Amino acid sequence: MAANNTPTVIAIDGPSGAGKGTISRIVAKKLGFHYLDSGALYRLLGLSAVRHHVSTDSEQGLMALAEHMDIRFETSNNGAFKIYLEGEDVSREVRTEKTGQMASKVAQYPGVRLALLKRQQMFAQAPGLVADGRDMGTEVFPAAELKIYLTASVEERASRRHKELLEKGEDVSLPALVEQVRARDERDMNRDASPLRPADEAIELDTSSMSISEVTDTVLNILTVKGIK
Ligand code: DC
Repeated sequence: MAANNTPTVIAIDGPSGAGKGTISRIVAKKLGFHYLDSGALYRLLGLSAVRHHVSTDSEQGLMALAEHMDIRFETSNNGAFKIYLEGEDVSREVRTEKTGQMASKVAQYPGVRLALLKRQQMFAQAPGLVADGRDMGTEVFPAAELKIYLTASVEERASRRHKELLEKGEDVSLPALVEQVRARDERDMNRDASPLRPADEAIELDTSSMSISEVTDTVLNILTVKGIK
């Protein structure tokens, strides 16, 4: 817990494929903290828009969906992270590249971001939270005890995504993925509403040539040095 008795929040932001999800889940598990996958909220909204025939051009329609979306996150005993939309397990569908691109589109609207803000802040429960996304340190948890900005080269991030998708049986060409990663960076970094950028006090880590355990150890060391854990 932080000094004033509010739960400790660790914000991990960065572009797609930088390893935020993997690292955040491992760190949350090691610390016994809750975990917020904020990208999943935008992904679920994209899926929900398709299911309810709401155009991604309609900010009002998307806002209404964002406020009422029936979603649930579950971590099972074996550590598997499951995501439900209206009671249906959409854990696989939510992770596809197509859903990611849609999430990036719906995430551009200020009204949508506002509608999802409270839902995200409610994840900050004792003893603490590891929150991963694009604006965790800048907008959603500006008072977070630790802010990390994870990044890696576009090529490395596309190659990681390629491996991940192949493992899931989704066959997307690597050059096409490089272009998709670039397009998503461009949209996420240049939108007016809460663009992706490191928070002023964020510690930046370029993970291009680091293994998952090296990044995890680095984050845990920073926590120790800062006296957070
Ligand atoms: O982290 P991700 O790939 O699951 O995120 C999908 C998209 O959602 C991302 O391209 C932009 C949007 N997003 C956002 O705008 N703000 C966040 N905090 C998290 C994700």
